[in-house]
Amino acid sequence: MYKIVKKVKLTEDIDRFEVKAPLIAKKAAPGQFVVIRVCEQGERIPLTIADYDRKAGLISLVSMRVGKTTEMLAKLEAGDSLANVVGPLGTPSELEKFGNVVCVGGGVGIAPIMPIARGLREAGNNVVSIIGARTSDDLILEEEMDKISDQLHVCTDDGSKGFKGFVSEFLGQYIKKQKSGINRVVAIGPAPMMDAVSKVTRPYRIKTIVSLNSIMVDGTGMCGACRVEVGNKTKFVCVDGPEFDGHEVDFGLLFARQKIYCPEEEQSHELHRKECRCTGR
Ligand SMILES: Cc1cc2nc3c(=O)[nH]c(=O)nc-3n(C[C@H](O)[C@H](O)[C@H](O)COP(=O)(O)OP(=O)(O)OC[C@H]3O[C@@H](n4cnc5c(N)ncnc54)[C@H](O)[C@@H]3O)c2cc1C
Ligand code: FES
Repeated sequence: MYKIVKKVKLTEDIDRFEVKAPLIAKKAAPGQFVVIRVCEQGERIPLTIADYDRKAGLISLVSMRVGKTTEMLAKLEAGDSLANVVGPLGTPSELEKFGNVVCVGGGVGIAPIMPIARGLREAGNNVVSIIGARTSDDLILEEEMDKISDQLHVCTDDGSKGFKGFVSEFLGQYIKKQKSGINRVVAIGPAPMMDAVSKVTRPYRIKTIVSLNSIMVDGTGMCGACRVEVGNKTKFVCVDGPEFDGHEVDFGLLFARQKIYCPEEEQSHELHRKECRCTGR
């Protein structure tokens, strides 16, 4: 069992959990993730390790409520425990000195971009961060991102804070205004956002890294559920990624595979709403 020592509500739908997991905290690196089960009867879901404290033996998970399992997770409080946490999984982010780096985070994707932005700055890069959400109420970790970035730009779809529009639109305008080159872009958020960012940077040939959120089961390269096409080659997001060159990703296939189990997910969510056999809440 993995005890939740702290829970912070970041927005109406997004919570941050500090979970006691000393062995994972000891080895975790930016870009990696865990696979959790809320309870013994529950399904396995992947969540990025948003932060870690090796000394305290804690990992931070930031979860957005979108369906059955994330809803069950949202009902847990400090003092409750997760049945399983497996990790750290996946390949860590490349944190070298590239020069001028732009980190783009959308929605709950701001949480996983944070340790990457911090690591890139510690590696000596000039880090410009662009974060966005639907509205100012949905925006997370603005203060934290401000502290670890050389420059921070905020976007909201409805214009309630910062630039009115998508992070990809802001990025397009930002690139046009730059006199010194941009050496790398790292983007994490919903798949359509990462696709849009990759389309914006492609004409400028700016290396663009995206973190793919395909459906996963085991998270260790055995089931094939997370299969994607990158550079016309089959890759498993859980072991070959989750980070890939955005210009090489077949986003169309990713979108299609993300929706494969929508009817079953909805049915399972419906059954769960009637009776939760797990947390009892
Ligand atoms: C490497 C990785 C890291 C992720 N990190 C985060 C994170 O830090 N915070 C966060 O909020 N979300 C993260 N996600 C997405 C998260 O795993 C899904 O939102 C979650 O699994 C949805 O489960 P559900 O039962 O609540 O929703 P459901 O209703 O079952 O599904 C809603 C949608 O979520 C996706 N999904 C469902 N099951 C899975 C699964 N087993 N694996 C992956 N995607 C699934 C599908 O696209 C589905 O249509 C990550 C995904 C991946 C692959
Ligand atoms: S999740 Fe099973 S192979 Fe990647």
